[in-house]
Amino acid sequence: VAPPNTLAPRVSPTANPALTTINPPTHKRTPKDFIFGKAIGEGSFSTVYLAKDIHTGKEYAIKVCDKRHIIKEKKTEYVKREKEVLNMLAGAKHSFVRLFCTFQDMERLYFVLSYAKNGELLPYINKVGSFDIECTKFYSAEILRALEYLHGLGIIHRDLKPENILLDEKMHVLITDFGSAKILKDPEASVTTHPATDDSQQQQQQQQQQQQQQPYRRERRGSFVGTAQYVSPELLTDKTSRASDLWALGCIIYQMVAGLPPFRSRSEYMIFQKILKLEYEIPDGFCELARSLVSQLLVLDPTQRLGAQDEHGAGYPSIRAHPFFEGVDFETLHEQTPPPIY
Ligand code: ADE
Repeated sequence: VAPPNTLAPRVSPTANPALTTINPPTHKRTPKDFIFGKAIGEGSFSTVYLAKDIHTGKEYAIKVCDKRHIIKEKKTEYVKREKEVLNMLAGAKHSFVRLFCTFQDMERLYFVLSYAKNGELLPYINKVGSFDIECTKFYSAEILRALEYLHGLGIIHRDLKPENILLDEKMHVLITDFGSAKILKDPEASVTTHPATDDSQQQQQQQQQQQQQQPYRRERRGSFVGTAQYVSPELLTDKTSRASDLWALGCIIYQMVAGLPPFRSRSEYMIFQKILKLEYEIPDGFCELARSLVSQLLVLDPTQRLGAQDEHGAGYPSIRAHPFFEGVDFETLHEQTPPPIY
């Protein structure tokens, strides 16, 4: 997505956030309220730019979506879903990127999001090869807390991966990219099913809508939407539950410890084959407690994953209680100084 052609006046920012707290902007924002900087993220129909509010000097990440492209690729539901989820998360005090406002012009939609100064988790894992146990514990715990909150609201992320886990200026986790998310109509119901196994007309209609939103559905040209490496087996066989995110958590914990995701292959098809056969290896020297936790999250039957039987809305006490997390104070994670990554 091309940067917006703003001929914004290069006004020097007043840089007084206190004033905007007292006098919040009452007018609908436009691209001219921001100075757009470098691209910091790229999606299939969107680009994220670093941008500065000309009135306050505050930095934001603005996701700019190309309307024509979204309509052409039939992705309007994804974009609506993302906005809906971000609005549902507006009350969260931490763990998620915040949506400050949205606006549009003729060609584009704009999502003004919090700027995660330290970018994605992925390059940190790649840079150091793998995290030590302190780091793995801390970041796994922060991701788990975020999932507890998300699932408590009946939201399943469905594309959790180290690229969607951002780090703020203090190196705390901010989860992003809710374009593949699912909002459970009945949060108590644990599983949603694909039309193949439902047959009432009403359900079929509902499911047809859902099918467009399924991130890992095969597209017409045979490519897949989403990210193969973290896909749970039930996403490949058309059932989604909260446990799908717990599978991805297992993959991410494995990756922090081992340096690479558990299911790797040259083609997506072969990755999927490995996932469906639970074909992964624990390398020598892999922390024993981490191995135990990962092996209880990477379970083919979603109902048998650690946490899957925990009461809805009560967090994941059974995951918190795993010995891997011994000594972690989950309640104060966001106030703690994260362990340094090296
Ligand atoms: N890349 C994508 N979204 C981002 C954000 N909110 N902050 C920093 N980098 C990003």
